[in-house]
Amino acid sequence: MKICVTGGMGYIGSHTVIELIKKGHEPVIVDNLVNSNPEVLNRIKKIVKVKPKFYEIDLRDEKKLDKCFQKEKFDVVIHFAGLKSVGESVKKPKLYYDNNIGSSKVLLKVMKKHKVRNIIFSSSATVYGVPKHVPLRETDPVGKAANPYGQTKIEIEKILMKVAKEDKKMNVVLLRYFNPVGAHESGLIGEDPNGIPNNLMPYITQVAVGRRKELTIFGNNYPTKDGTCIRDYIHVVDLAMGHLAALKAIKKKWGLKIYNLGTGKGTSVLELVKAFNRANKLKIKFVYGPRRPGDVVKNYANASKAYKELNWKATHSIVDMCRDSYNWQKKNPTGYQKAKK
Ligand code: NAD
Ligand code: UFG
Repeated sequence: MKICVTGGMGYIGSHTVIELIKKGHEPVIVDNLVNSNPEVLNRIKKIVKVKPKFYEIDLRDEKKLDKCFQKEKFDVVIHFAGLKSVGESVKKPKLYYDNNIGSSKVLLKVMKKHKVRNIIFSSSATVYGVPKHVPLRETDPVGKAANPYGQTKIEIEKILMKVAKEDKKMNVVLLRYFNPVGAHESGLIGEDPNGIPNNLMPYITQVAVGRRKELTIFGNNYPTKDGTCIRDYIHVVDLAMGHLAALKAIKKKWGLKIYNLGTGKGTSVLELVKAFNRANKLKIKFVYGPRRPGDVVKNYANASKAYKELNWKATHSIVDMCRDSYNWQKKNPTGYQKAKK
């Protein structure tokens, strides 16, 4: 299949492009490089011996996007593109609404014009808000967004649900990711955040390579077994495979489908640090700090629907995730920017 991969130069998109190529699909990347590096294309070529086609386009540029769709004749769109920093979204909510919601609207308009009727969208567990219980099921209500970033995911989901309702020929798959971590086993591609990482795993790997002095664990007095928060970490390659499973399952008149992509297992911050130490024979220095405002105590998926309907389940362990994250960071201590080519 010929697949338009928006945001395909980014962390999750690039891993998915690799798996798509491996399965004989033809992914075409559309990305404006606002949070990614052109070096990603060389890395993909090193891994799969194919350099995917790449259009440097801001999705909000309807004219350019239209031209691209005119030329390429896509079967499916996998829509990763978006800004994703929670902290930045609080400071610049308008930018987030404009970029994430605005670009999704333009994309849908162009898809409609070119009769592309299949879309897989990168949603997030953040749409559940503060969970009333765990594990979370797809039938659980969408909650109140904790920040503008989360609000954009809720809004885009709503727009896509409406599109699926109004156009019976549309197939819409909403994939709600839990906490993606890890990297391709080659260590050639991985997560490359700008500035100080907001997320736990990139912070740990940067401590491991000496870029940061120590990890601060945000809160150790939560009502959990060791006092630290619990998340559902999922290997990015498992996540990529989840998209392939969804792609395979899309049939005519599939309508709207929603799936959690997680492992179904909760891991505490302290457990993740210990697993990282074990996997990499290291000792990550950490201190306990105050709670981070807005953090939920426990968040993990019931991922049984994806298994039942898509025959997909995560196969990588926490140790695999820790090993692969560190392998990427060790080989690219400063990310793509100064990495040896
Ligand atoms: P990423 O920042 O690495 O990748 C996103 C890509 O989108 C980047 O390459 C960026 O340049 C591009 N982009 C952003 N705005 C664009 C625009 N207007 N036009 C064209 N390209 C644009 O992020 P990621 O971690 O790979 O996340 C991919 C998707 O998954 C995002 O939608 C994100 O919100 C969602 N998601 C991520 C996580 C996570 O923890 N990483 C969790 C849940 C959901
Ligand atoms: N944490 C630390 N120290 C750090 C960074 C994180 O202790 O330096 C803790 C957090 O307090 C939290 C856990 O590690 O308890 C995980 O934090 P992350 O920021 O890695 O992940 P979150 O679950 O908080 O957030 C992620 C995405 C959001 C998304 C959310 C829900 O970053 O974009 O999952 O899907 F909205």
